[in-house]
Amino acid sequence: MHYALTSIEPAKEQADCFIVGVFQNKKLSKIAEQLDQASQGAIRNLLAKNDLVEEIGRSLLLYSIPGVSSARILFVYCGEEGKLKPSDFRKITCCVASVVKSAKWDRVVNYLTDLEVKGLDAYTKVRQSIELIEDCFYSFDQFKTKKADKPAFSAPKEFVFNVASADSAKAEEAIKQAVAIITGIKLTKDLANSPANICTPHYMAEQAKALAKEVELDIQVLKKDAIEKEGMGALLAVAQGSEQPPHFVVLEYNGAKKDQKPVVLVGKGVTFDSGGICIKPAAGLEEMKFDMAGAASVLGTLKAIALLKLPINVVGIMPLTENLPSGSAVKPGDIIKSLSGQTIEVINTDAEGRLILADALTYSERFEPDVVIDMATLTGAIIIALGAVATGLMSNDSTLTNELEKAGEQSHDRIWALPLWDDYQEQIDSNIADISNIGVGGGKSITAACFLSRFTKKFRWAHLDIAGTAWRSGQNKAATGRPVSLLVQFLLNRIS
Ligand code: BES
Ligand code: MN
Ligand code: ZN
Repeated sequence: MHYALTSIEPAKEQADCFIVGVFQNKKLSKIAEQLDQASQGAIRNLLAKNDLVEEIGRSLLLYSIPGVSSARILFVYCGEEGKLKPSDFRKITCCVASVVKSAKWDRVVNYLTDLEVKGLDAYTKVRQSIELIEDCFYSFDQFKTKKADKPAFSAPKEFVFNVASADSAKAEEAIKQAVAIITGIKLTKDLANSPANICTPHYMAEQAKALAKEVELDIQVLKKDAIEKEGMGALLAVAQGSEQPPHFVVLEYNGAKKDQKPVVLVGKGVTFDSGGICIKPAAGLEEMKFDMAGAASVLGTLKAIALLKLPINVVGIMPLTENLPSGSAVKPGDIIKSLSGQTIEVINTDAEGRLILADALTYSERFEPDVVIDMATLTGAIIIALGAVATGLMSNDSTLTNELEKAGEQSHDRIWALPLWDDYQEQIDSNIADISNIGVGGGKSITAACFLSRFTKKFRWAHLDIAGTAWRSGQNKAATGRPVSLLVQFLLNRIS
């Protein structure tokens, strides 16, 4: 779908459908008013028949309105005039997207971006609209062999947003950035949605290579021998139960001068998490194919920023492995040696994400990073705490926390900070090794972050627990592409 802008009056516009707002008590929006005048009151008369239900996002499609250049107009209920909230705007946009999805139109002109929404500027309205529309149009049907089972819809060739001409430069930028972001998100979703028999550690490494070639990134793939040579005992411990060898991928995007310190993004890449010897219950286990969503978000983010050619240096690191039980699997009570030299007592083999991240975080040191951010589907506890709305953030630096919170608000890919106080640290003490891999009390998301903090002492670091936000559960299980939008926003903010 091609996204474009327009600022010309509707009379001069050609489209298969105009999308316009109507407020409470049939009050017409500015555009609806103009169209009504062109139709000599026909619109007002039709709306007077009360077919448009006054509920945010409900719509009414009318055809062949005299005096109007578009064959159809979709009237959308937008609540009380001047009181449109950002959440209403997003709901309306999703409703509109699903109507457009079930139609066969080539060119759609959306006038809703011209409505006043409290706290949203033209940039944000356009950017959020594109991200929401694309989410609605996304489908993962690679594995459906029958055409009938595939969703029957066709996206319009062109989706046009109307904005005031004074806003067109900002809106143009919004389109450019949103298009890069949705391209990155699509990659992240496709990989995370892929089943674990296809999406193995090796496959992820191959995908990274393909991306590196496509958008010109430097890449290094460490195979098992090299991982052993480096001394990544924690990654190897998780991998030793699987037939699939681990991979460790390092990608570098160099958009700025060599001496500019990079942002390092580390993504948990457990391509399937059975729990290992501490095996998980069967119900919902299929969803553990998403346990590489952090790594997939590294690729999606790098793709977006490379397409935008941002003047910044970013390193992406993906420790990739399966977590399976077998005769060679790591066992509860085993003590392993991490790349940092610290020893870890593995109390629970299902707390594997933090093990592979420990080595990846230590590895980050060699890039002398400005900041390191890890993304990981790390704990079930974060789903209890924050649900599917906010990503959990834990950091050793308050400036970085603030920057990420701001980017979260801007992108509407939101995060919520949890405390990383020393008081939690004693929970992960082991009486026979340097650290235990699980906490003994409550606050499981925080103690997981405490574990990571033992490997991030040398740099400013933030941990994003995306277990609740990277995918939707249940029958319609699907990757969301989060937190790509947040990360790209964070990086955009660093250059402006
Ligand atoms: N990948 C899981 C976290 C997870 C659980 C993500 C449910 C999404 C939904 C992680 O490896 C894990 O198993 N964590 C354990 C940690 C526990 C053993 C301390 C958890 O959260 O139960
Ligand atoms: Mn686990
Ligand atoms: Zn896991």
